[in-house]
Amino acid sequence: MGNQINFPARLEETAIKIKATLSALIPEAEGPEQQLISAMRYAVLGNGKYLRPFLVLETGRLFDVDEARLLRVAAALEAVHCYSLVHDDLPCMDDDDLRRGRPTVHKQYDEATAVLTGDALLTFAFEILSDAQTHFDPNVRLQLVALLARVSGAKGMVGGQMMDMSGAHLGNDIAAISRMQRLKTGGLFGFAVESGAILGKASDRMRHALGGFAHDFGLAFQIADDIHDVVGKAENLGKAVGKDQSHGKATFVSVMGLASAKAHLEFLCNQAKEHLDVFGVRADALKALVDSVAK
Ligand code: IPE
Ligand code: IPE
Ligand code: MG
Ligand code: MG
Ligand code: MG
Repeated sequence: MGNQINFPARLEETAIKIKATLSALIPEAEGPEQQLISAMRYAVLGNGKYLRPFLVLETGRLFDVDEARLLRVAAALEAVHCYSLVHDDLPCMDDDDLRRGRPTVHKQYDEATAVLTGDALLTFAFEILSDAQTHFDPNVRLQLVALLARVSGAKGMVGGQMMDMSGAHLGNDIAAISRMQRLKTGGLFGFAVESGAILGKASDRMRHALGGFAHDFGLAFQIADDIHDVVGKAENLGKAVGKDQSHGKATFVSVMGLASAKAHLEFLCNQAKEHLDVFGVRADALKALVDSVAK
């Protein structure tokens, strides 16, 4: 069945809204903190795709959640994501000079500023979530804070990044690589959909469906990123390519080869969309996102 969503237009609309939200939350500053604030704005207001905010907004819409709330949650999540990118690009990690088509934060500023920018974005995310403007019910805010902490930390993104840095230990173990990818990338996607369900007080059945979707989509997304690293072009991606192989990273492509990685990506994307069938056409925007990643 044809999907009526104009995905690029809808994604662009999200990007505009989330950038306006982030810009208002992190206003320019004078004085000694000026450089830090400027670098925080540089990190979050670039030419990103803003897919995680898109997921927060679209899942929240399934449950008719107020958009102003969704935008705050999406801003908090994007702040964590951007922090992870700023640190991921540091010389001690992936050592990248280009991100979102511009110099990485440590190139544009310096390493100390990049470390502090990441620290400040991470902590700011929790300040946003814990503010009563995000939700009047403190229990809802606490659930959001606890979930974001879990998916970002040692049992989530940071744990996955640690595994990525010591990738040699993973060898050709596809199960271990899947686990690493789910931790480093899947967790934040999981938060994106689960936060919409928390704000919308979704039923267990709906939460279960969204959890299954995030599980498959998160892994699919990282496999797609690993494929782009091999077959993509820097001018389209806004970041360097060929990095994974030169750093000896363990990825689906390095273990299975390109053709099998592509087949697995397609399988996961189809499975991700099947989880959304319970929502009918209301989930078409989410399905369109999956299709864009599958391509
Ligand atoms: C890049 O994420 C890091 C990964 C988890 C692969 P995105 O591809 O979503 O990066 P931006 O936010 O669009 O720059
Ligand atoms: C990064 O994965 C995932 C994060 C948690 C930041 P990559 O290292 O593959 O992301 P890119 O390719 O630099 O965007
Ligand atoms: Mg990395
Ligand atoms: Mg990287
Ligand atoms: Mg990559």
